Amino acid sequence: MNPRKITNQIDLLGVIDWDRTVFDSLIPLPDGTTYNSYLLKGSDKTALIDTVEPGKSSILMNQLNQVPEIDYIVSLHAEQDHSGTIPLVLEKYPNSVVYTSQKEKPMLLDLLPEIDPDRIITVEDGGELSLGDLTLKFIYTPWVHWPETMSAYLIEENILFSCDFFGSHLATSKMFADEDPLVLASNKLYYAQIMQPLRKFVSKNLEKLEHYDIDMICPSHGPIYNIPEFVLSAYDEWANGPSKNMVMIPYVSMHNSTLRMVEYLMSSLCDRGIIVQPYNLETATIGQLATCMIDASTIILASPTLLGNPHPLLANAISLTALVKPKAPFLGYIGSYGWGDTVSKKIAQMAAPLKKDVLPFVTAKGYPNEAVKKELDDLAQQIYEKHTELGITK
Ligand code: FEO
Repeated sequence: MNPRKITNQIDLLGVIDWDRTVFDSLIPLPDGTTYNSYLLKGSDKTALIDTVEPGKSSILMNQLNQVPEIDYIVSLHAEQDHSGTIPLVLEKYPNSVVYTSQKEKPMLLDLLPEIDPDRIITVEDGGELSLGDLTLKFIYTPWVHWPETMSAYLIEENILFSCDFFGSHLATSKMFADEDPLVLASNKLYYAQIMQPLRKFVSKNLEKLEHYDIDMICPSHGPIYNIPEFVLSAYDEWANGPSKNMVMIPYVSMHNSTLRMVEYLMSSLCDRGIIVQPYNLETATIGQLATCMIDASTIILASPTLLGNPHPLLANAISLTALVKPKAPFLGYIGSYGWGDTVSKKIAQMAAPLKKDVLPFVTAKGYPNEAVKKELDDLAQQIYEKHTELGITK
């Protein structure tokens, strides 16, 4: 892909990584991703904002063959998908220097030890860098999603370069997001897995950005937001909005006993006007689970007993929940056993660090009998009342 013009003085460089399927050896990328790099051509100086994943360096370096000089490399985030090609750019432009945050400099040197420390200049929160007729103002936006992350704001054109903040893992040749629902879905998936665990920082950084007029947001993954409100309002809703009248049920079932409990509870919840989203953990992706956690008010874990323990797939789901830190205030457990309930106590211990309001557990010896169904109805009623008490009705 050749460089593409965003404005008269800004080009989009970088890589569309159509084939990438996983990030951090954890996060599935159903739609690939992009590593965006931005070239700013001021009247006096030229700056490159972020680079690309080191395995894709050759694409960026080919694009730079058309660029005679780069004075400044602005590094907004030390993670290698954005910083990994900085050493090659420094080598190609021997007079260039890196501008980055105070916290990022040592991280860059740890991750890319080939960089000469004397070629890294640190900037303070609110500091500015002049390119002549263009000026970048640096805005520290920590913990979206590493401690050193910052954004850069182009004062003359009201453009925010946000790096991972507001990004989407979406390989597309479409340069602008417009108000495309596919971009929003991809953005929500990205938020769910990367930003959701840090939503308090997301909120603080959204507040910080309220002081700026923003006409365009250029993230380092996915399309550019030419209608910033499209993504800003979505982030505000996801980070600050209330959870919904929704119950999420991650479940696993070996001989359908737990599945019958899940189905009965689902029906009972639906009768009370509550949205229910079950996920069979044999096939559900981390992305599906994390995305549902943005909205759910109650999480009901469901698993049979396997060798005296919860099924490992459910144990994984609890670990994921601990990582994601969903806003859901309520948590419960339902499940079956063959000859003894040895799981409830273990689930209670595993769920304790999640700091949720724990609902009564419901267990069944084999298939749910009438007494168990009554307990499931009681559980559904209790969820309905708890949601109603909190005003969660939508
Ligand atoms: Fe896109 Fe945190 O790297």
